[in-house]
Amino acid sequence: MKLDLSTKIGTVLFKNPVLAASGTSGYGAILNDIFDVSQLGGIITKSITVKPRKGNPPPRIIETSCGMLNSIGLENRGIQYFLDENLPRLKTFKTNVIASIAGNSDEEYAMLAETLNKQVDAIEVNISCPNVKEGGMSFGQELHSTRKVVETVKAVSSIPIIVKLTPNVTRIEDFAKVCEESGADAISLVNTYKGLSIDIRSRRSNIGAFTGGLSGPAIKPLALYAVWKTAKTVGIPVIGCGGVMNYVDAIEFFMAGASFIEIGSATFREPDASLKILRGIKQFLEDENICCLNDIKGVIHEC
Ligand SMILES: Cc1cc2nc3c(=O)[nH]c(=O)nc-3n(C[C@H](O)[C@H](O)[C@H](O)COP(=O)(O)O)c2cc1C
Repeated sequence: MKLDLSTKIGTVLFKNPVLAASGTSGYGAILNDIFDVSQLGGIITKSITVKPRKGNPPPRIIETSCGMLNSIGLENRGIQYFLDENLPRLKTFKTNVIASIAGNSDEEYAMLAETLNKQVDAIEVNISCPNVKEGGMSFGQELHSTRKVVETVKAVSSIPIIVKLTPNVTRIEDFAKVCEESGADAISLVNTYKGLSIDIRSRRSNIGAFTGGLSGPAIKPLALYAVWKTAKTVGIPVIGCGGVMNYVDAIEFFMAGASFIEIGSATFREPDASLKILRGIKQFLEDENICCLNDIKGVIHEC
């Protein structure tokens, strides 16, 4: 029995469902110094903005119980630098390239999507960054602005559009439904949970920008619940993200209904975590005599 891990978003085929999460693996090249990133299903870039951004003041990352709090503030060198310097190298890897985009307005999202159309395999629309004053998560916390931005991006794109949602809302599945209605080809969730960490001696926040976004094992049960609710609500593929540290976590996400998983914070602990997780998934499926992911997707018994 041959194991087939391939899966699709729209018409784009992914050789397996393990993706490097945005902001945690740069543009692929750094990770490729450690392992062959061509083995992954895809690499999602750090979120790209129209203009270069310096990001937030330090400290930008602090370890918390079972996780980490970050407030990078979308530091990146802008779309032109990405096209000239990062994309050529990214394209040499034999894996799908997903460009994550972040704008301050619908027009900026449209400009980014139009520029990247057909240059990459898919676009992940980040409407969920909790660490910027303008744009970011504010787009993804209102149903009408979510609808508008997805429709705007979809109108200028012929490649698959993935919308990355914030968990900092009451009913994330309602946002997923709006994205599906507006033409999204897949949903990814979750981005980080807004959080705070205080130094009791100085009585200051441990994060330079005061608040940050929580990720890692601490958020896994929350993310898993969000994926389960969303997968029951939409018909398009759901990409699970949040605290996937090993293959068991990954299988849980598939059983909750995810078609793909993204590996984020785990990469900070072990740079080749995504490869180890991919190998663990394969071993588990072989041991269980399962030949494709669909056989375990959403199979959780609810009574
Ligand atoms: C240091 C850091 C930077 C991040 N930057 C981005 C980003 O630029 N765009 C984005 O959509 N998500 C970003 N994220 C969120 C991750 O992609 C992911 O959604 C989140 O960390 C939850 O997954 P995890 O628990 O596996 O890390 C970042 C996360 C971290 C820890």
